[in-house]
Amino acid sequence: MAEQLDRLQKVIARSGVTSRRKAEGLIEEGRVTVNGEVVKTLGTKVRPSDRIEVEGIPLENPDKVYILFHKPTKVITSVSDDKGRTVVTDYFPQLKERIFPVGRLDYETSGLLLLTNDGEFANQMTHPRYKIKKKYVAKLKGYLLREEVKQLEKGIMLDDGKTAPAQVKVKSQDRDKNSTLVEITISEGRNRQVRRMFAHFGHEVVKLSRIEYGPLNLKGINAGDARELSPHEVKMMRNMAQNQS
Ligand code: URA
Repeated sequence: MAEQLDRLQKVIARSGVTSRRKAEGLIEEGRVTVNGEVVKTLGTKVRPSDRIEVEGIPLENPDKVYILFHKPTKVITSVSDDKGRTVVTDYFPQLKERIFPVGRLDYETSGLLLLTNDGEFANQMTHPRYKIKKKYVAKLKGYLLREEVKQLEKGIMLDDGKTAPAQVKVKSQDRDKNSTLVEITISEGRNRQVRRMFAHFGHEVVKLSRIEYGPLNLKGINAGDARELSPHEVKMMRNMAQNQS
């Protein structure tokens, strides 16, 4: 039986790595190869058996989707909510793929959240064995002491065990307003971990946002907005997880 031919940009777009318009740009820039040859002609027909690479990365997961989302506060990290509250997948009504969040951010926490339909990728990102670093910015009640920073950096005992060493950077402190703005980077993902780490010293977290997830950040993405990860970024995230196992 003859194999079905399809236009290259359509196949790339259908693979979930980018939009058709962006796929056209990638082709014209010479960043796409078919069976090892650079193809710059839009509309080139390809067969399912052709080996297509975008930026050197094979299109091996045609139905996989990877999204970087800037979650606003007051949105549930779930695909449904029995109380009818807004959930993260409500932001993607146009997607036919059944995506789900990678790990979770609290209802009151904003920031970088990945969504995908690739269970293996989600597992790699969240498994404690793969120590992906996550950076948060937190506004705390009270004045974070140097000694407290040192203890957080070494690890502290919470009710579910000792925390791994964290990186902590105080950005500003206001004695009059009795508040501290701090960045904290952790490699674990326990429930409400950052809030509990500061609560250990009596500091309530009044605002919390995740600003980095491994090499990914929120540059150019406002709360409620999203973008797809590039094939290169997906590959980088996978490699990072594997190298840290
Ligand atoms: N730590 C928290 O306390 N909350 C989050 O949402 C993420 C990390």
